[in-house]
Amino acid sequence: MAAADLNAKIPNNVNLADDRKLQRALESWQPDFIDWWQDMGPVGFQQDQIYLRTAVSVEAGGWAHFDYVKMPEYRWGIFLAPQGRDEIGFGDNIGKPVWDNVPGDVRKELKRIIVTQGDTEPASVEQQRLLGQTAPSLYDLRNLFQVNVEEGRHLWAMVYLLHSFFGRDGREEAEDMLARRSGNEDSPRILGAFNEPIDTWLDFFCFTMFTDRDGKYQLAALAESAFDPLARTTQFMLTEEAHHLFVGETGVQRVVHKTCELMKQDSNEDVTKLGGISLDIIQKYINRWYSVSLDLFGSEDSSNAATFFSQGLKGRFKEQSDRYPDHKALEQVYQYKLPNEDGRIESCEIPMRRAMNLVLRDAYVEDCERAVRKWNNVIKKAGISSELKLPSEHFNRKMGLYSNVNFGPDGSFLTREEWSARRDEFLPSQEDVTYVKSLMVPTYEAGKFASWVSSPKTGINRQAEDFEYAKFEGDPLTRSYA
Ligand SMILES: [Fe+2]
Ligand SMILES: [Fe+2]
Repeated sequence: MAAADLNAKIPNNVNLADDRKLQRALESWQPDFIDWWQDMGPVGFQQDQIYLRTAVSVEAGGWAHFDYVKMPEYRWGIFLAPQGRDEIGFGDNIGKPVWDNVPGDVRKELKRIIVTQGDTEPASVEQQRLLGQTAPSLYDLRNLFQVNVEEGRHLWAMVYLLHSFFGRDGREEAEDMLARRSGNEDSPRILGAFNEPIDTWLDFFCFTMFTDRDGKYQLAALAESAFDPLARTTQFMLTEEAHHLFVGETGVQRVVHKTCELMKQDSNEDVTKLGGISLDIIQKYINRWYSVSLDLFGSEDSSNAATFFSQGLKGRFKEQSDRYPDHKALEQVYQYKLPNEDGRIESCEIPMRRAMNLVLRDAYVEDCERAVRKWNNVIKKAGISSELKLPSEHFNRKMGLYSNVNFGPDGSFLTREEWSARRDEFLPSQEDVTYVKSLMVPTYEAGKFASWVSSPKTGINRQAEDFEYAKFEGDPLTRSYA
């Protein structure tokens, strides 16, 4: 693997200087990317100095360099993790050498996988572009922008693959990445969940907790890929993604923590009087974002998933660990419960390869359950007898085998009428949304936090609680964001 060239126009550890044609193509995409960032990235904070980390190498400990930087001057680079496996670890081609190039017979599928993954990265930046205006603290503002610039780098990672391995098609796809717009009617982002605006910080924390976590599992599945450049690119993206998940998981936890503190202050436990978010409302946001994120795994019974697995494009989570007895997965079946129209659940068997979305999703669900246990410990420690729960996997589904039947968060069948009548018990009501939005007022003073969220246990890069994570050009409160 090449040493990182950090002084190049595009920082990289892929020997870009040795491939003039590729270098020129990427260097001509770069100004378009910066234009996109200025147009569609965080609104109103592009001239400020933000305390951000930048990847400068892929070695342990050396990949996160912290400093103040204006976001448009962020050094987005291309980094591949060191060479991993020599042999394909699963599917029909198990044991054969990994691919350094794209075999003709899987070109179409690989391109589709890379484009779909790549499209989510700029999409999330677009969804979150207004959030800086209501940041609950400088710490949170900085975390938001860290997530945003790294999603930008993940787009670079996918565009590098498109430019390097897919010729003219790939270059066109890379242009389209900057042309689609989240929520745009004519050219929306590819996946549904990435077209909804994220307009409150509770949504942002839930998004980074649940939706980014889907991303982690998709990347982990691609990190197993027989296509070695994809495996190594996604491997490195995962190290950055860990921070995004941290922002989400601890973000929700800090809201829960603050709510519990406020409940103890008020004898009626009415936290709204004190500017808090009730556990009920938090539960509804969890219900919403968890169910939307389950949809991102795709259908439970999927012929695409089977193809991707058999061809060696996409493995399972930690395919090489002893989670799985058999890396061909030809003989086994997955027992699944299937609803019929009147909500009765019947058992069915899905051939294992066709159930790969479900297998990946199971690993995700375990991870989410772990986080919810942590949140519940916070509630328990506060002496409050209440629990947060993940809703049933049948609840509020728009994709897959449960999408045509209604179920409550507890998994019970509901008629269409019952669902409509009770919807606001399960998902944020208009009133809940209005209330949460009313709390979204900016707090830009170092060390101060909004009324509805606790301070974090430790600072970023071990900074003190009152650390100045952003140095503003003038007073941000007097800005107009037109
Ligand atoms: Fe990402
Ligand atoms: Fe992310």
